[in-house]
Amino acid sequence: MAGLIPQDFIDDLVARADIVEVIGRRVQLKKAGREFKACCPFHDEKTPSFTVSPAKGFYHCFGCGAHGTALGFLMEYDHMDFPEAVESLAQTMGVEVPRNESDRPSRRYDELFSLTGKVEKDWQRALKDSPAAIEYLKKRGIDGATASRFGLGYAPDGWSNVLDRYGKSDEAIDRLLATGLVIRKDNGRHYDRFRDRLMFPIRDARGRTIGFGGRTLGDGEPKYLNSPETVLFHKGRELYGLWEARQALRSIDRLVVVEGYMDVVALARNGIDFAVATLGTATTGDHLNRLFRLTEDVAFCFDGDRAGSKAAWRALETALPHVREGRQIRFVFLPDGEDPDSFVNANGADAFVKAVDDGIALSDFLIAELSAQVDLGTVDGRARLAELAKPLVSKVPAGVYRDLLLDSLADTVGLTSERLERSLGNAEERQSPGARRATALRRKVASTGRPSVVRRAITLLLNNPHAGDKLDVEKLAGIRRPGIDLLHRLIETVQHEPNITTAGLLERWRHDEEGRHLGKLAASEVPDGDDFDAAAELDECLNQLVAAGRRDRVDFLIEKQRVGSLDEEELAELRELR
Ligand code: GTP
Ligand code: MN
Repeated sequence: MAGLIPQDFIDDLVARADIVEVIGRRVQLKKAGREFKACCPFHDEKTPSFTVSPAKGFYHCFGCGAHGTALGFLMEYDHMDFPEAVESLAQTMGVEVPRNESDRPSRRYDELFSLTGKVEKDWQRALKDSPAAIEYLKKRGIDGATASRFGLGYAPDGWSNVLDRYGKSDEAIDRLLATGLVIRKDNGRHYDRFRDRLMFPIRDARGRTIGFGGRTLGDGEPKYLNSPETVLFHKGRELYGLWEARQALRSIDRLVVVEGYMDVVALARNGIDFAVATLGTATTGDHLNRLFRLTEDVAFCFDGDRAGSKAAWRALETALPHVREGRQIRFVFLPDGEDPDSFVNANGADAFVKAVDDGIALSDFLIAELSAQVDLGTVDGRARLAELAKPLVSKVPAGVYRDLLLDSLADTVGLTSERLERSLGNAEERQSPGARRATALRRKVASTGRPSVVRRAITLLLNNPHAGDKLDVEKLAGIRRPGIDLLHRLIETVQHEPNITTAGLLERWRHDEEGRHLGKLAASEVPDGDDFDAAAELDECLNQLVAAGRRDRVDFLIEKQRVGSLDEEELAELRELR
């Protein structure tokens, strides 16, 4: 979707945006030297640690680590997605967002939203006229108020209700196809996707309908039919019921993730407004980012069957990179055969809340699951448990939480945390001597000998893009170190775009896997007094990298010589380098 907005437009928008104005309109800012300060809008605090740098176009909170550009701020604070934030920023600056050619005018989001909104309303009216659908809701215990809060509707039977009403021109049909409301057959004809189904509109962060889920009223197959992935609807990001929860609650203290639409609606009917559902997909990292933006307390509630416990384990694996101090992640298992809908209707809201409160903490779940796979009564079993835990623990960010997890694991396997940590780190000790040497060699080549040179160079460059203007990137050719390609590309970018700011660089790399950590680097402290010569520092970094690259190469060649596999050319190179 983002690809539809030309990059040079985004560059320009970010360069010209006044981040102080954008943030200042939402948060009270106070001038402090070259920067502005405020109490952080993303966490509770009494003394301001949130700073905004107009020169860099960047904000950063020293308390909670939140950081980003004007666009990033809009995404976080107003809960917009990227294109929405671009639209919003452009609007306040009085410019139109251009779209690339591939984006036909008929695909404009406003038109698509207007269409999904109209169809939703039609289906709500049709529900009132459908005794069968009303009867179905009644049978499932859903009252009128809850149905209308969730905008439930009924798509009447028939192959062309929506098509006939909204598909009067080719362009109109294109819009219907783009929203997934209509399906095209091989012979070029079209028909309605949703027929004779109870309809659940799926809303985005701003309450606009981006897709639908439809349930048969009887035993028809499939039980649920969902909108396909469209420009509006990305299953891996959206959470059903999140908008409704935010409408219902003044502040969101906790969220419970359940599996089904009906679970969310039934819980809401019983006064539990903090449930959301994934849309027939596993929980993704995007889901977790969304959840943790709103609350520190997230519980996953799964059906009490095998599929439920498998899904829980998958959710745990996805959640590991997101755990940290202050966050609560719990897993709730309902009795076999129950789902949240049946459970809350049978036992009431208090019982459900209690079940959630009694949920098992992520670390306990992890240890319990692994322990069940080994025999803890034997030394081998305990060693095996440490082995199984290794890849999981390595996903947890270093910090207090990880230390606590290691403590619990150590307890379970009967080691001290230090010994456990050492054994987790040294699994390759058990490799054959040859393999071990290869690993050591690889590590040496890959290791950041002086660990932070690349990192330091990137940090300097991000904070002082102009300092890169005259660097000789050619020097870096052939040096292999983590992050060096990124450094290379950053230098090329600043040389190509002499006016680019910190914010501009971050936006360039927003959708880039490698760029994920750039925001953190831009937020890290760098000297910036008037007598600080960033260009000279950067040049020095490059020289260090060149020297280190040379040393790596020599080490590599020596090791090759030692195992007797150095060829003539390499031998010559080694002599020359030494
Ligand atoms: P009810 O039978 O109405 O109570 O539904 P449920 O929510 O208990 O259903 P279930 O636990 O079977 O499914 C959970 C979620 O998985 C649903 O809300 C859907 O999002 C999805 N799902 C279930 N069945 C289907 C299906 O047949 N096709 C698709 N695409 N998704 C389904
Ligand atoms: Mn159910």
